[in-house]
Amino acid sequence: MFITLEGTEGSGKTSQGRALASALEAHGRGPTLLTREPGGTDLGERVRHTLLALDGPRLDPLTQLLLLSAARAQLVHEVLRPALERGETVVCVRYSDSTRAYQGGGDGISDAAVESAISIATGGLEPDLTIYLDLDPREGIRRRERARREGAVGAQEGWNSFDERSIEFHYRVREAYLRVARENPSRVVVVDAARPFAAIHDEIMKIVLPRTVSDRVGGPRL
Ligand code: TYD
Repeated sequence: MFITLEGTEGSGKTSQGRALASALEAHGRGPTLLTREPGGTDLGERVRHTLLALDGPRLDPLTQLLLLSAARAQLVHEVLRPALERGETVVCVRYSDSTRAYQGGGDGISDAAVESAISIATGGLEPDLTIYLDLDPREGIRRRERARREGAVGAQEGWNSFDERSIEFHYRVREAYLRVARENPSRVVVVDAARPFAAIHDEIMKIVLPRTVSDRVGGPRL
């Protein structure tokens, strides 16, 4: 089972990903692998550093698309396919829909170019389920700025070159996510992320649990 978590900035994907992965193990869904994009491999982390750096040159959108796709190809080859072949549940924070939303919707790269980069990088590996955490970009940015001001752990390093883009860019990203959700109703579930953490986690579990199979025979292990 391959699950992705998607969303605009500050929507809580990373914390929800951690909570989901550990809850799935606690519910006997077998070993669960948690990974992220860009990242998840040595190459992916290097690409992440290059793309998110605030002090480097602003990279051309096509260059970004190709770098993200190269990192994705490596993640699919090195991490995702092997884990799925071992029968593990995989939770990935961001995947192809981020490219549709940011490079497609945000930067205006054509659907044809975006889809062909995705298809080359993934070899057709699509998630079984995508949770899209929907949040008004203004609220997302407010949350990120608040965390940064309050010195929350990771908030400083979490502030990246995409956070510095215009608010219009982030609204285009959100529109593109909503379009992906409309076009893929059986894969993508939209979750309202403007609520407390626990309420969102509970809703995610209600969506995911019925779609996964418990490895416990005869009820819960005590
Ligand atoms: P990250 O800190 O992981 O996300 P968040 O801001 O939600 O905590 O930063 C990853 C950034 O990379 C994010 O701003 C979106 C961007 N990105 C793309 O533009 N395209 C992609 O395909 C992926 C995977 C990420």
